[in-house]
Amino acid sequence: MNLLKVYITRPLPSAAVERLAARCEVRMRPEDAPLDAAQLAESCREIEGLLATGVRVSEDVIAQAPRLRVVANVGVGYDNIDVAACTRRRIPVTNTPDVLTETTADLAFALLMAAPRRLVECDRYVREGQWQHPKWELLWGADIHGKTLGVYGLGRIGKAVARRARGFSMRVLYHDIVSAAPALEQELGAQFVDRETLLREADFLTLHVPLTPETHHLIGVRELAMLKPTAFLINAARGSCVDEAALVEALESKRLAGAGLDVFEHEPHVHPALLSMPNVVLAPHVGSATAQTRLAMAILAAENLLAALEGRRPPNLVNPEIYA
Ligand code: 8YV
Repeated sequence: MNLLKVYITRPLPSAAVERLAARCEVRMRPEDAPLDAAQLAESCREIEGLLATGVRVSEDVIAQAPRLRVVANVGVGYDNIDVAACTRRRIPVTNTPDVLTETTADLAFALLMAAPRRLVECDRYVREGQWQHPKWELLWGADIHGKTLGVYGLGRIGKAVARRARGFSMRVLYHDIVSAAPALEQELGAQFVDRETLLREADFLTLHVPLTPETHHLIGVRELAMLKPTAFLINAARGSCVDEAALVEALESKRLAGAGLDVFEHEPHVHPALLSMPNVVLAPHVGSATAQTRLAMAILAAENLLAALEGRRPPNLVNPEIYA
């Protein structure tokens, strides 16, 4: 019997790969390196299942994979995949929600703390041997406890960040396309406000929206102008939710106190001006990067892929309309 063929775009943990290898013929790219569209298309020509991580799955790639029956993304965000093109071919697309929620919220909160308390600057100061004698005004930062947190997008990760804020006695405001159930608001101690109130009142604005045409440049010149000059922007969602040039401009002109950024508009390229700003803490898109969480993501993606290949409805389907 001919086994169905699966391609994995970068080396993944053996626990996930073995699950697939028990039932499919698996080919895994041995190196964790950039893969361009032509290389990806070439690798997808004969396959039925694609386990996608760190790659853009374009309409063109899909068109060159006539046997493709599932695209399983290793990640909760799936803006790297042309879902509409998959839907037209009735190809299920899946993602990996839930397993990375708390880990990503941890990182967002870490950025929220590192930026105002100037942790990176503190670390550099000690390492560089600058700490020669006690100084009264040494590396003063801004308080976190008791301040107002603005959560833009109260989905899974937004909620997890709001829960953390309670432990810091923060006032939590949020905005989303719909307000949450009163019981949830009460549990989180979070209050729904309109967009403008969120922007004007937040001491820390943290983004937790998916990247869609509607959220592209959600935070631009106008929105940045509404923020307090003492506010910090935290982004562990997607870089393109923020107009990066406008952010640089707001930081340069001191209309914003600082930022904690895990994601960028043109990753891995980072706007050069951000690199020299001490009030900005930068991370290389590591929101979900712990061994435990990355393992859970890989296993979940493998399970989604197997379900689809075996004719079952995958648990984390993002285009359910294909089954309508
Ligand atoms: C991954 C992510 O780093 O889940 C997401 O949406 O951004 C991250 O967990 C990314 O998907 C790479 O595979």
